[in-house]
Amino acid sequence: MKQVSDGIWKDGSRLYTKNLKPGKRVYDERLVNHENMELREWNPSRSKLGAAIANGMKSVPLAENSRVLYLGASTGTTVSHVSDICENGFVYALEFAERVFRSLMELAEQRKNIAPLMADARKPENYSWIEECDIVFIDAAQPDETEIAIRNAETFLKSGGFLLIAVKSQSIDVTKRPEEVYEQEAGKLVRAGYEVLEIINLEPHEEKHCLIVARK
Ligand SMILES: C[S@@+](CC[C@H](N)C(=O)[O-])C[C@H]1O[C@@H](n2cnc3c(N)ncnc32)[C@H](O)[C@@H]1O
Repeated sequence: MKQVSDGIWKDGSRLYTKNLKPGKRVYDERLVNHENMELREWNPSRSKLGAAIANGMKSVPLAENSRVLYLGASTGTTVSHVSDICENGFVYALEFAERVFRSLMELAEQRKNIAPLMADARKPENYSWIEECDIVFIDAAQPDETEIAIRNAETFLKSGGFLLIAVKSQSIDVTKRPEEVYEQEAGKLVRAGYEVLEIINLEPHEEKHCLIVARK
């Protein structure tokens, strides 16, 4: 078992975060003990952020005190691991589908560093009260994913903060090769003034997906 970054451990191909709520599972993940801590296995096939880290993301910007705006939280599978890592920070978890939002609320009841927000990520003016964040992360699988990400980053991301975009090439343009779509989306970020640090291919965990890491 080797610590790879703040709050994240790796054992061969298995990835773990330190469980903020020892004894409690969020999905069907394994719990293991390591040096007087309980770690929670992070399944990279159920989390694009997990897949990016499993595939060798060079520097993971999440830290113990990070404030994160997470767009497209769904039931909170990945949000729960972000909450583990940022144990003294905070996660604003945004989701607009009522069906999955209920599970997200249940997760937030157990974890005091998550605020579930039922809102449309296309309209940051509707949650303009949230504070400036160190990281904006989006996994909404929308055709205008990058535009939504930039709009939110312009409003909430601090200067020097990190913008992480999970890109599903099939949602954006089915006629292009995934790599062309990744370059096209990265180009939008560069033109908006962001420095693109990495484009991480998420296969085999997620077909035709990448994670773009950029800095404001
Ligand atoms: C691929 S799933 C997210 C999975 C999640 N990030 C995880 O790793 O556990 C995409 C989610 O984004 C949500 N979504 C899509 N567009 C949205 C929008 N404009 N505002 C808020 N949520 C949105 C969908 O309802 C869906 O739950």
